[in-house]
Amino acid sequence: MKYRVAVVGATGAVGREILKILAEREFPVEAIAALASPRSVGREVSFGETVVKVANLETFDFSGWDIALFSPGASVSAKYAPIAAKVGCVVIDNTSHFRMDPDVPLVVPEVNPEALKQMKRHIIANPNCSTIQMVVALKPLHDLFALKRVVVATYQAVSGAGKHGMDELFAQTRGSFVNDPPQIECFQKQIAFNCIPQIDRFMEDGSTKEEWKMQVETRKILDPDVQVLATCVRVPVFIGHSEAVVAEFAKPVDLKQAREALRSAPGVMLFDRNEEGGYITPIDCVGENASYVSRLRIDSTVPHGLAFWCVSDNLRKGAALNAVQIAEKMRDLGLLCKKS
Ligand code: A2P
Repeated sequence: MKYRVAVVGATGAVGREILKILAEREFPVEAIAALASPRSVGREVSFGETVVKVANLETFDFSGWDIALFSPGASVSAKYAPIAAKVGCVVIDNTSHFRMDPDVPLVVPEVNPEALKQMKRHIIANPNCSTIQMVVALKPLHDLFALKRVVVATYQAVSGAGKHGMDELFAQTRGSFVNDPPQIECFQKQIAFNCIPQIDRFMEDGSTKEEWKMQVETRKILDPDVQVLATCVRVPVFIGHSEAVVAEFAKPVDLKQAREALRSAPGVMLFDRNEEGGYITPIDCVGENASYVSRLRIDSTVPHGLAFWCVSDNLRKGAALNAVQIAEKMRDLGLLCKKS
């Protein structure tokens, strides 16, 4: 069976990756629609060997389309995802808008695929990029040792802020060599040669919304009782988020068992050699699918603790790949119906 698939935000960093991954994984596509704002109408994007002309989301009729993968920004999804869902098109939304809606499953296929069966509004949410790679790595450890608390510091690439974020890092880096003053639009301060401890807006308690997302999304996906404290930092890396994760468990931790579980867990690649360079960095993970775990060690400051370094391509597992995997899992579970 083949499906009629719409990609919303098709000209953006994640949208282009979705088109690439759909083709790469040979998702059974009968017809493809590439949608963006009126600014982009008529532009061309690639879907495998095929070139697709971009159409206007505002005037697009979702009737007869089976599935839509959205990544146009939260306010645009808020308006158009329900329009698509209303005519029976299943929406997989990559923005933050629907994630905490109790009627919308928030899914990482390796972690909580069963949540897909709870879909009530024809909308499935794709979690935040920094949450996805962390819960994929934590899931096998949680199953073994019962996770209680996580403290995480992130080092997040500029592509998490879309193509404008990548352009800003490029322009500022280039500008620094020709004495151009840095233009600051996307981020709060200069990002080239810098680190910015703010992603998204501030909340009342002094945390940022990105940090709050890591907390509430981890609970919704993995376990409502897990405590999470995150510090999210934007760094001058184009692609690939890194995280220093410290996890505390209810049961005694065995390092050998932890390694074995991570080695056999779906979506995880353990690359951990106690030697110079024996770990994965963002540059190494670009274009790859896994959540990479390195530097795994016991945290002896608490009774049952583990610390590790986790890296993943934020545009793939952190966004586009996870969305496509959700579509694949829905098809496998018989939750994707063909309408025509
Ligand atoms: P456009 O290129 O026409 O602005 P990124 O996150 O990389 O910046 O990409 C955002 C994506 O969302 C782009 O494809 C962008 O299209 C699309 N987008 C932004 N605003 C709208 C809108 N109002 N309607 C439809 N698509 C939009």
